[in-house]
Amino acid sequence: MQREQWGSRVGFILAAVGSAIGLGNIWRFPYMAYENGGGAFFIPYLFAMLTAGIPFMIMEFTLGSRMRGSAPRVFSKISTKLEWLGWFQVFISAVIAVYYVAVVGWSISYIGFAFENSWGADAKGFFFGEYLKLGENSPTNLGSIQTHIVIPVMIAWAITFAAIFGGVKSGIERASKIMMPVLFIMVLILIGRVIFLPGAVEGLNFLFKPDFSKIADPKVWSAAYGQIFFTLSVGFAIMLAYSSYLPQKSDINNNAMMTVFINCGFSILAGTMIFAILGYMAQQQGVGIQDVVSDGVGLAFITIPTAISLLPMSEVLGPLFFIALTVAGLSSLISIVEAVVSAIIDKSGIQRKVVATIVCGTGAVVSLAFTTNGGLLLLDVVDHYINQVGILGSCLVELVLIGWVFKMLPQLREHANNVSEITIGQWFEICIKFVSPAILAVIVGLNLKNVINEGYDDYAKSDLLTAGWAVVGGILLLAIIINLVTKPAASKGE
Ligand code: ALA
Repeated sequence: MQREQWGSRVGFILAAVGSAIGLGNIWRFPYMAYENGGGAFFIPYLFAMLTAGIPFMIMEFTLGSRMRGSAPRVFSKISTKLEWLGWFQVFISAVIAVYYVAVVGWSISYIGFAFENSWGADAKGFFFGEYLKLGENSPTNLGSIQTHIVIPVMIAWAITFAAIFGGVKSGIERASKIMMPVLFIMVLILIGRVIFLPGAVEGLNFLFKPDFSKIADPKVWSAAYGQIFFTLSVGFAIMLAYSSYLPQKSDINNNAMMTVFINCGFSILAGTMIFAILGYMAQQQGVGIQDVVSDGVGLAFITIPTAISLLPMSEVLGPLFFIALTVAGLSSLISIVEAVVSAIIDKSGIQRKVVATIVCGTGAVVSLAFTTNGGLLLLDVVDHYINQVGILGSCLVELVLIGWVFKMLPQLREHANNVSEITIGQWFEICIKFVSPAILAVIVGLNLKNVINEGYDDYAKSDLLTAGWAVVGGILLLAIIINLVTKPAASKGE
C-alpha cells in the first residue's frame, strides 16, 4: 500500500504548527512564564527551545521521514527490541486524547456561554457548580455522566473524526489550512483590542518583568523543559507520524525550525493577550495582578470569563476567545489522535477509514469518564503523571537510545543536511547527546522524587495510585507486551 503524503510543504508546516499550538500555548505558557520569573523565564525557555526543542524536532522529522513510519515502526526499524518505546509514546497520545477532548468540549460550551456572559458575577461558582457539577467527588469517585458536557465533547470528536477519516491530504491538511489562519487572525484581533485597554500595559509589565532570582531554581528549568516537549508535540509519537507522510527528499531542518519558531512566537502572543486582559481586569477590580492570575483550567474557565464580563464589546470578544481556544485545541487533538491511528494502520495494514472509526469510537467512550462530576479531578491527576513522568521519561529514553546506544546522530545529521535548505552543525549532536539528556535526567529524577515522596496536590495516595501510577505503568506494560508477543512493526510496509 502506497504511504499517504502531504499535498504541499505549506500544508505540512501548517499541520505541524497546528499540532504544536494548542491548549498548552494558551493556558499553560502565560501562567508558567509569570510563575517562573516573568521575563527571566525566557532565558531557560529559549535555552530549552534551542538545546532540546529544535534538535528534537529535527531528529523526529528525520526519523519519521526516513523510516516512513509511525513511532512503533520507526523504533522497530532501529531495533525490533525497541518497538515498545513507540507503543508507549502512542499510548501516551491515546491517554492525552481522551482528556484533551474534554477541555476542548468545555471550550465549545463556553463559546455559547460567552455570547451572554452566562456565568454572571460568579464565574468560579458557575464553572465548578453549575457547569461541571463537581460535588464531593474524587479522581476515583467520579459521580455520573453529565449530558450537557457529553454533547460538546462529542462535537469535538466528530470534527476530529472527520479530519482523520478524510486522510492526510484531504482531511488533516485541509483542516489545518482552514484552522491555522483563522486562529492567528482571531488572536491578532483580540490582541489589537485588549492591548489598548487601561491597565493592559501593567499586565504586560508583570509578564515580562524579569525576576532573575528565579533562574537558579531547578524547578524553573524543569518547567521550561517540560513545557517545550508538550508544546512542540515531540516525544509522544505525533511528529514522527506527521513527518512520515513527507514526500521523499523534503526539507527537514528549515521545516523543523519554522515549526518551533512559529509555535514559540505564538506562545508569546498568547501571553501578551492573556496578561493584557489580566492587567485590565486587575485595574477594574482595583486589585494587584497577582490576585487575579491563575493557571490551566482556572485561567481559561474562571479568570478569563470574569475578565470578559468586564470587557467592552464582551459579546464579541468573549466568543472570539473561546473560538480561538477551541480551534487551537482541535488542531492539536487531530494530531494526537492521528499518532494513534497511523500506528495501528502501520502495524495491522487495516484501512484508515476502519481504524479511524474504531479509534475515535473507543476514544469517545473512554472520554465519557471526563464528562462526569469528578472528571476534572481525574483529568488533573492523569495529566500531571502523563506529563511529568510519561512524556519526559519517554523523551529521555529516546535521547539516550538514539544518541548513545545506537549512535545514530552522525547519520541522522547527514541525512537531514542532504535534503535540507540549511545545514546544521555539530551543535545538533552535542545537544541531543549531552546537554538535553543531562538536564532531562535531573528533571525526571526530581519529578520522580517529588511524586513518590509528596504525591500531587492534596489528592489521596490511593487516588494517585489508581489514576496516576496505574495509568503510566499500565500503558508501559501494554507496550512491552505488544513488543513481546506480536510480529515486529518493521516487517510491514516499505
Ligand atoms: N502541543 C499541544 C499543546 O500545546 C499538545 O497543547
